Amino acid sequence: MGTPFLLIFLISFLLLCSLSFQTTVDNQSHFFTLMKHSLSGKSLSRWDVFIPGEKPYCNYTGISCNDEGYVIKVDVSGWSLSGQFPANVCNYLPKLHILRLSHNDLRGSFPVGISNCSLLEELNMTSSSITGTLPDLSPMKSLRILDLSYNLFTGDFPMSVTNLTNLEWLNFIENACFNSWQLPDDFSRLTKLRTLILSTCMVHGRIPASIGNMTSLVDLELSGNFLVGQIPPEIGKLKNLRQLELYYNQLEGEIPNELGNLTQLIDLDISVNRLTGTIPESLCKLPNLRVLQLYNNSLTGEIPSAVGNSTTLNILSLYDNFLTGKVPSNLGESSELVALDLSENRLSGSFPPNVCKGGKLLYFLVLQNLFTGGLPESYGKCTSLLRFRVSYNRLEGSIPEDILGLPHISILDLGFNCFSGAIAKTIGNAKNLSELFIQNNRISGVIPPQISQASNLVKIDLSNNLLSGAIPQEIGNLWKLNLLLLQGNKLRSSIPKSLSSLKSLNLLDLSNNLLTGSIPESICGLLPNSINFSNNHLSGPVPPSLIKGGLVESLSGNPGLCLSVYLNSSDSKFPLCPQIYTRKKLNYYWVIGTSGIVVIVGTVLFLKRLLSKERELMEQDELSRLSFSHVQNFHIISFDEREIVESLVDKNIVGHGGSGTVYRIELSSGETVAVKKLWSRKTKDPTSEDQLIQDKELKTEVETLGSIRHKNIVKLYCYLSSSNLNLLVYEYMPKGNLWEALHRGRSLLDWPTRHRIALEVAQGLAYLHHDLLPPIVHRDIKSTNILLNADYQPKVADFGVAKVLLARGSKDSSTTVIAGTYGYMAPEYAYSSKATVKCDVYSFGVVLMELVTGKQPIEAEFGENKNIIYWVSSKVETKQGAVEVLDKRLLGLFKEEMIQVLRISIRCTCKAPSLRPTMNEVVQLLVEADPCRSSNKIKQSSYLIKTKNDA
Ligand SMILES: *[C@@H]1O[C@H](CO)[C@@H](O)[C@H](O)[C@H]1NC(C)=O
Ligand SMILES: *[C@@H]1O[C@H](CO)[C@@H](O)[C@H](O)[C@H]1NC(C)=O
Ligand SMILES: *[C@@H]1O[C@H](CO)[C@@H](O)[C@H](O)[C@H]1NC(C)=O
Ligand SMILES: *[C@@H]1O[C@H](CO)[C@@H](O)[C@H](O)[C@H]1NC(C)=O
Ligand SMILES: *[C@@H]1O[C@H](CO)[C@@H](O)[C@H](O)[C@H]1NC(C)=O
Repeated sequence: MGTPFLLIFLISFLLLCSLSFQTTVDNQSHFFTLMKHSLSGKSLSRWDVFIPGEKPYCNYTGISCNDEGYVIKVDVSGWSLSGQFPANVCNYLPKLHILRLSHNDLRGSFPVGISNCSLLEELNMTSSSITGTLPDLSPMKSLRILDLSYNLFTGDFPMSVTNLTNLEWLNFIENACFNSWQLPDDFSRLTKLRTLILSTCMVHGRIPASIGNMTSLVDLELSGNFLVGQIPPEIGKLKNLRQLELYYNQLEGEIPNELGNLTQLIDLDISVNRLTGTIPESLCKLPNLRVLQLYNNSLTGEIPSAVGNSTTLNILSLYDNFLTGKVPSNLGESSELVALDLSENRLSGSFPPNVCKGGKLLYFLVLQNLFTGGLPESYGKCTSLLRFRVSYNRLEGSIPEDILGLPHISILDLGFNCFSGAIAKTIGNAKNLSELFIQNNRISGVIPPQISQASNLVKIDLSNNLLSGAIPQEIGNLWKLNLLLLQGNKLRSSIPKSLSSLKSLNLLDLSNNLLTGSIPESICGLLPNSINFSNNHLSGPVPPSLIKGGLVESLSGNPGLCLSVYLNSSDSKFPLCPQIYTRKKLNYYWVIGTSGIVVIVGTVLFLKRLLSKERELMEQDELSRLSFSHVQNFHIISFDEREIVESLVDKNIVGHGGSGTVYRIELSSGETVAVKKLWSRKTKDPTSEDQLIQDKELKTEVETLGSIRHKNIVKLYCYLSSSNLNLLVYEYMPKGNLWEALHRGRSLLDWPTRHRIALEVAQGLAYLHHDLLPPIVHRDIKSTNILLNADYQPKVADFGVAKVLLARGSKDSSTTVIAGTYGYMAPEYAYSSKATVKCDVYSFGVVLMELVTGKQPIEAEFGENKNIIYWVSSKVETKQGAVEVLDKRLLGLFKEEMIQVLRISIRCTCKAPSLRPTMNEVVQLLVEADPCRSSNKIKQSSYLIKTKNDA
């Protein structure tokens, strides 16, 4: 070989070399141009700054290069980019090691070519809205971290991950769109894996025994799948394991003793499975265990005594099993218990006296067991307690004074036991108490007037005790009171007039007492459907409205009651009052119609007679017969329908809805009402689909709203119908709807107001779901259907598509109207159109998000086809991200409390309905997130969210 030849060779080699390097660098630069072209988002402007030098991109935010100028890291997580990630990234960036694309809106399927990045060590694409099937991932041989959680992958689970033997971290949580699949033995090839998260990923079949070979595992999470069979004892070989989550599966058999070999274990949750046998003693001896949750299984035997010696245990939740025997008496002495839930078992003996020794106990829940003995005095010193629920046991003795007055307690539930003694006046110290249940005990003495100082009380049930003396006047100060049950006692006073100031009261039962005196007229302003005064010694005239409300039964057993007016109802059990027989107070019937009566619906209480030409023709008897066959329960208000019809003029119009025009009408009585005039409905074809649906909705609205009474549900005063006119008369809500107040309002709603709105709407929904039989699903909860009165008190409106949940088996006659609104509709509802209460919970969760973020459910910022739920969940992974979503207009005030509500909203919008809380739970969670209560200083651990027992 001659010299020149060699030279040429060398030069060409050098040339080639530099050329190829040059190309690569250009390619790198080109890649960032491609990214800017195919993705959009404000954050990309971070790359627009001028940076001198050959490789400016090495100084871009989120980019790192190695010493040779090769890009090794691209991190644009949380940049809210939308569009498509450029294909074949590693052709341009051949040395890429780290690619973080999480929390963006990368439309379409898994970006082409990423799987060819053989040097890639970390790929994080959590919450990137990726759809479609995954390619063969085997070429990514170097991968150590793979996070593809919270996406929408379909097709088969990528078994090729079993080829990625360098993996240390694998997370696929919340990819519920995969075809069902089973964990193959091959998985155990991933012996370096430290974290394996496959929760809610459609895993079926058994957990393979070979999992015991994956001895690097620190965190193993397989919850929310369809796993069957036994828990393999081989899991006990995972000596590094700290967290084992197997809840929500169909696992059966016994809990293997071998789990007691997991000496590093901190958190064990195998709740909601079909486990049998006993709780292994070895588990309770684990030296680091903080959380032990085995609720909702079929476990038997005793709680191992070792649990009392644990120095680490914080949360013990064993409810809904078949456990027997005593609770170790030293439970809580050696560790700081935060939550203890042993409810719904067959446990007996007395309570462990030092369960609150650590001073951190928030929940003590042992309802429905066979416990005996008294409440230890020491419990009264447990000032951290939020819930104390011991109902349905065999407890006796008196209730320690301090327990009644615990400063942070929100539920005190002692019902169905054998407690005796009096209710101490310390109850006045329970400033955060919202539910007090001591029914069905042997409590004697008087109801202390101090109870009125527990001003957050919403529910009081003291029924079926031996209470005597008077009902304290002061009870009328409990303005939040919703339920007051005092029946079955020996109360002797008259009915205090002050009760009529309890505007939120739904249920009032004073039956089976020794009450005397007359029924205060003012009490009729309350909710006549839910009053029971029967079997007392009441006397004097019955307010006629009570009888009209069909409450004869609720007044029976009071021989002294009489009627002062003639009511023409033959089945009336009451004699006429001796003094006067008068028709003076004749009731009016309110009818509107032309030829005959089309529909008669009126207020039950002040039915008005139509001032029309028919008036004279109608005999009293005929009227009452007709009215009784059509009348529904409505609210008390008196007005003249002619006045209403005359006020349907343009200047009174306040809005047009989908179904009609809404007028604001000031009546001569001074009252203001909202009147909805439905579009003229009698179209050409009265049998058309549209017509039927419209009729159906109208009927639903009238029937449901007409029968509901709750402070947070809009009142429908009456319904007027003629052949060409349909009017619905509602209470007027001067502050419009929540959507306007949040997004268009002139003044900003502060957080305490928003929280109160959330809580009260939740109470309204909880009433629909849990207090009514059968329950009602609203089906169209959204901020525009939440109206606000002058004090910003919210009321749920628009029951046009509401649905009464009939008992299983009974025929559902309703047409299949698609209900709900885009952005608020639960995913399962969109697929199955099966309405459950959990659909409302979901929609309510969206409203909560609106309240916390100040955003609308759908905004351009979230990306195309993305909603607020996606946006919120993509942000809240980090504390920083959670703070970012909070409504900026509130200037960072109440940050912690808002995040607490944000967390509730996320639970409400869980994809799986079963994981959403009930409305009752939501109410309780919101009470605990009250920005105005001191107990909020006690922050809940995230674990607790799984522990709630509202049985
Ligand atoms: C770019 O980054 C390198 C190394 O990180 C640094 O030395 C250099 O000063 C940076 N250039 C500019 C213009 O910021
Ligand atoms: C992936 O990114 C998200 C958000 O940046 C982060 O919270 C998560 O921990 C990352 N996953 C891994 C496995 O590092
Ligand atoms: C693992 O890699 C080999 C070789 O590339 C391939 O043949 C095999 O199909 C891969 N396994 C899976 C489960 O994809
Ligand atoms: C993995 O586990 C299975 C079942 O426990 C066992 O038969 C097998 O020998 C193990 N393989 C290795 C490589 O340890
Ligand atoms: C694991 O637990 C079982 C049963 O409790 C026991 O027999 C075995 O010796 C333990 N193995 C180790 C390695 O500790």
